[in-house]
Amino acid sequence: MAANPGLAAGLGLLAEILEREKARGGDAVPVSPEAIETLRGIPAVMQERRRSLVAAAQAAAVSAAPVPERSAPAVEATTPPAPLPAETPAVSSVSAPAPSPVEGAAERTEEWRRAQLNAIFKSVKQAPAPRELGTLFDTVVFASGNPSAEIVFVGEAPGAEEEKQKKPFVGPAGQKLEQILKAMGLSREEVYISNIVKFRPKKGDGRFQGSSNRTPTQEEMASCLPFIRAEIEVLRPRVIVALGRTAAEGLLEKGGALAAFRNETHHFADIPVIVTYHPSYLLRQEAASAEEGRVAKRQVWEDMLRVMEIVGLPISEKQRRYFL
Ligand code: URA
Repeated sequence: MAANPGLAAGLGLLAEILEREKARGGDAVPVSPEAIETLRGIPAVMQERRRSLVAAAQAAAVSAAPVPERSAPAVEATTPPAPLPAETPAVSSVSAPAPSPVEGAAERTEEWRRAQLNAIFKSVKQAPAPRELGTLFDTVVFASGNPSAEIVFVGEAPGAEEEKQKKPFVGPAGQKLEQILKAMGLSREEVYISNIVKFRPKKGDGRFQGSSNRTPTQEEMASCLPFIRAEIEVLRPRVIVALGRTAAEGLLEKGGALAAFRNETHHFADIPVIVTYHPSYLLRQEAASAEEGRVAKRQVWEDMLRVMEIVGLPISEKQRRYFL
């Protein structure tokens, strides 16, 4: 085994316990001095694990998508929407050789992008690193949307519904994301939607999991990071939106609270990253109370206005004053 499923499962459990405590309104958890010592030792172990996983995954995955330096602005936002296929034989170039590298922006055609993405998709299907963890289901949930999109949304990992449809963000969180896009004047076919982890995380051995989901671990994200990196290199969007703390931590490879992430400007491969709340968080806040839902929605909307400004999307007075 290239990884330590026990450690991953333990951390997953710890995160679940803390989230449950938080949901119950707790802001303090009693911890023994021994437990604190053990927790202090975890970052070093995780760091080492992450290094070896990234090295293994990089060796196996990204050779599929060689991308030259960007020499011109991103493709026009008006590029006709062309959804990427899910994991079906419709992906005609899955078995075709990857196209040769291109020199300039003019050659980064939609066809070239599509072929590159299909090559990455194929490399996910063959990648050993995420599978060796033994903590993820087998079905690949890749990405959907416009390969020429200027805005890329990145979530954490697919859930039960996404696994069933082999498409990211198609469950309740996906419906919330579509509402956000609509408020921005966009549809999901005009943007690119992906996840860091390309497989649904298992709870235990997954046998009795039903439709419940769990947050991916750092190890799981590290094992899949080369894929999202390669996707972003193919798209070269104007802005990346990290949906939620877990996605932000995975993408930016650093820990932190979501409020702190939101207050800073981040970059991934020189592309600005806006961190906002995960759509599931919005759903939870809305369920808690109308006011909490409104506060969370307003914060997400502020972040989306920044995204619209970055890509130069028109912002109407109504949109600008949405929550005022
Ligand atoms: N949550 C995510 O982060 N990704 C999905 O695809 C669905 C829910």
